[in-house]
Amino acid sequence: MADLRINGARLWESLMTLARIGETPRGGVCRVALSDVDREGRDLFVRWAHEAGCTVEVDQMGNIFVRRAGSDPTLAPVMTGSHLDTQPTGGKFDGAYGVLAGLEVIRTLNDANHTTRRPVEVVAWTNEEGCRFAPAMLASGVFGGEFSLEYGLTRADHDGVTVAQELDRIGYAGTRPCGGQPVHTFFEAHIEQGPLLEANECIIGVVQGLQGQRWFDCTIEGMESHAGTTPMPRRRDALCGAAQIVTAVQQAALAQAPHGVGTVGDLRVHPNSRNVIPGRVNFTVDLRHPDDAALAAMANALREAVAEVETAMGLTAALDEIWYAPPTPFDAGSVAAVRRAAQNLDLTHMDVISGAGHDAKYVANVCPAAMIFIPCKDGISHNEIEDATPEHTAAGCDVLLHAILEADGA
Ligand code: GLV
Ligand code: MN
Ligand code: MN
Repeated sequence: MADLRINGARLWESLMTLARIGETPRGGVCRVALSDVDREGRDLFVRWAHEAGCTVEVDQMGNIFVRRAGSDPTLAPVMTGSHLDTQPTGGKFDGAYGVLAGLEVIRTLNDANHTTRRPVEVVAWTNEEGCRFAPAMLASGVFGGEFSLEYGLTRADHDGVTVAQELDRIGYAGTRPCGGQPVHTFFEAHIEQGPLLEANECIIGVVQGLQGQRWFDCTIEGMESHAGTTPMPRRRDALCGAAQIVTAVQQAALAQAPHGVGTVGDLRVHPNSRNVIPGRVNFTVDLRHPDDAALAAMANALREAVAEVETAMGLTAALDEIWYAPPTPFDAGSVAAVRRAAQNLDLTHMDVISGAGHDAKYVANVCPAAMIFIPCKDGISHNEIEDATPEHTAAGCDVLLHAILEADGA
């Protein structure tokens, strides 16, 4: 099968068709987890899977498993996939690429009339982004035994609506147990979402592992009062306290340069009125670093900043660490299979560490796993202008095909 290649035009066409579901006026996609448009995207994927002759199962977390049978049903599948949900101002490729690359591998195997030994399964994992239901990679986390099913189903959005309620509402509350099925190997194809491949003129990133992440919810409470009549010394302004912590997050990351990154991306001010001093602010903190000790130093700096705001500004503060995902190396043998596929296809490649979180992290709890990155324009992602080329999406899919074929023979 060494000469087998995927159909790049068909893959591109599928990517562009899916991107119309939830498309935004600025050329991006808003297909937030378990929304009506997420359901539409899922329905299209399921339709394409049936058209490709596959069986489809949905598990209790709404993960969709598309299976192409192999010649030996007793063997564990080679699995691939990613996610169909997006950020509110997301792009066409983050997640969708990995799911549709998997589907394109199946279509290619169909065209070639090639029966693998093992089943090939393509998965669309629920709620990878974590923007509506924190934490990220929630349903692959349940699959990988990181979170309990109960925990996964009870995560709630800002309006108190739970994952279980939304799965029911959109018709994706499946019955297959989430996890417990043997998997031979998992590969995930994804855009890089950073600038390294482009800067180094490489088409394929051979992903060594993921950096660590810690997510916090923070609440600062002060006192609401009149913006015109309350003298400055008498104020207990929760937003001023939050502003100091936002700056401290930036400083904590800069203190761990060049790899430390820290973000406050979601901030809610109460009562959010022009002429009321803010009495309460809720915000999120996202800290990341490839080295766990450096990540811990960043978390400590955050805790100190929160304590300082309490003592110096007369505010009360609560900091809740809601998620800790330590740095994760991928399986050396599976990483080597990705590198071999890139080499055999004569594609420029380099080793990279993922700055983003990915479902492969938690699937790696239960089987060997690895990832394939392709460049995205100017390294920009989580933005409506996120872009990739037909040439690169095809190249990454060819690497995926050949990594899968190698794992099938193993
Ligand atoms: C997921 O997209 C993340 O890395 O935040
Ligand atoms: Mn993604
Ligand atoms: Mn993302």
